[in-house]
This record gives sequence, structure tokens and C-alpha cells, in this order.
Amino acid sequence: MNESLSIKNLEKVFKTEDDEVVAIADFNLDVKKGELVSLLGPSGCGKTTILRMVAGLLEPSSGDVVVAGNKVSGPGSDRGMVFQEFALFPWRSVRKNIEFGLELSGVPKAEREQRANEYLEMVGLERFADARIHELSGGMKQRVGIARALANDPEVLLMDEPFGALDAQTRNIMQKELLKIIKRTEKTILFVTHSVDEAVFLSDRIVVLTKRPGSIKEIIEVPWPRPRDRASPEVTEMRKSILDELEKENVMNDD
Ligand SMILES: Nc1ncnc2c1ncn2[C@@H]1O[C@H](COP(=O)(O)OP(=O)(O)O)[C@@H](O)[C@H]1O
Ligand SMILES: [Mg+2]
Repeated sequence: MNESLSIKNLEKVFKTEDDEVVAIADFNLDVKKGELVSLLGPSGCGKTTILRMVAGLLEPSSGDVVVAGNKVSGPGSDRGMVFQEFALFPWRSVRKNIEFGLELSGVPKAEREQRANEYLEMVGLERFADARIHELSGGMKQRVGIARALANDPEVLLMDEPFGALDAQTRNIMQKELLKIIKRTEKTILFVTHSVDEAVFLSDRIVVLTKRPGSIKEIIEVPWPRPRDRASPEVTEMRKSILDELEKENVMNDD
């Protein structure tokens, strides 16, 4: 099977006391093995809602999410999640954060340690294995988040604005680190961002979302090999044309 992730007719309606909010409507997407696909759209368009449904943390109102041929009905170790706000366990060391999912799956201690070492090395945190989370910088925290998600060897990595809380320089460094990790692990990634620059720098394909209810406005293939030169004419041109699209979207929908 060529598809890691298949999202079919996904819809989410949030019901509050006296209101109904259609957050996602008619959302369909297939992500191939080893592909990095970004969901790009303005704040509130439903990116996190889609990711949470893929993660199995939120039940769709209708539609299906299928991961490696299995229908999603809740959280599972076939999907690893990386959050913007890191969501690490502050009372655990770096190493123990990375081992967390492996503990849950009952992986024996020796193998846990060996796998933690592998991912500590991959994200460049070997020397910080025994550090506490509060001792780390933002970039280092997100390295732990990525290592923790990868340690389970998930079919799909789900990343929700993972670099959104970082300063611009750290963010650029982390984007390059992620590219190195992808090269090594060949992971399939569904990546949420509201940064056009980030989407063009990282993605194989960019799914541009409409304003609420979130559905697909356009899917853009980014054909150039990585790492890309942000300043090159073709990358600059693509960024500009996507920004123009998003702006149009805002004008059209502003009442
Ligand atoms: N639990 C919820 N209850 C009601 N509305 C929600 C809930 N979660 C999200 N929404 C609404 O759904 C829309 C999409 O939210 P979200 O997926 O967080 O957007 P994004 O991640 O693109 O910023 C927003 O209008 C938000 O207010
Ligand atoms: Mg969000």
C-alpha cells in the first residue's frame, strides 16, 4: 500500500449550548508514505481540529481517518504527535520523556534505553539525557518533543505548529534539523503551520485551507529538492503567489 494516511469526507461540527460551529467540512486527503504534507491556513480555519481527529483525540462528526489501512477509532502508537506548546512531562528527565510511549507499550527496559539513546543522538541531545525539562531552551524542548514522538516509530508524525513558539533563528535551525531527521527516518508527516515560508521550505505538498468551515482551497506541489534556498527566485515566487491566494481568501470572506 502506497498511502500512509487517508482522510475521507471528514467533517466536524462543534455543538455549544445555543450554537453550532462547522469547523471542518468535506475534507479529503491522501498522504503517501514518506511524504511531508502541510496544512496551511489562517488561525481558526480548523488545522488543529483536523490533526486532533487524525490523532484520535477528537471524534469526527462524519468521515473516516485511515492509517496504514486501519481505521482510526482513538489514539494509537501508529501516530506520533508534536505540539506547539511542547506538552512534555516536567517531572521526568529528557530521557524519561523520550521513553514515555515505550513504557506505555510495555517495551522492556534495555530496549527502551537503547531506543532513547538512538533518538537522543538523532536530535542532538545526548549530553542532556538526564536534564530536567525546565533546564532546556525552547528549541531543545521541541527536540525532546520530536524524539518522544519518533521513539514509538509511528507510521505518521503529526506536527501542530511545532516551531510556532520559537524565535525566528531557532525556528530556522529546527526546520533544517527536521529535514535531516526526515532524510534518516523517511517518516510520513502531516505538518500544520500558518507560515507560508515554513510550508514552502519543508513540504512536498501544501494543502491551502479555506476560512471556516475549513476545506481544501488548493493543493500545491513543491517540486524542488530539499534543503531549499529561501531566497531563490522560484521559492520567493511560490511564497508570493500563496500569500496572494490567502489574502484573496480573507477579502472574499470578510463581512
Ligand atoms: N472544542 C471546541 N468547541 C467549540 N468550537 C471549537 C472547539 N475547538 C475548536 N473550535 C472552533 O473550531 C474552529 C477551528 O479551530 P482550530 O482547529 O483550533 O483552528 P486552527 O488550528 O486552524 O487555528 C475555530 O473557530 C474554533 O473556535
Ligand atoms: Mg491550531
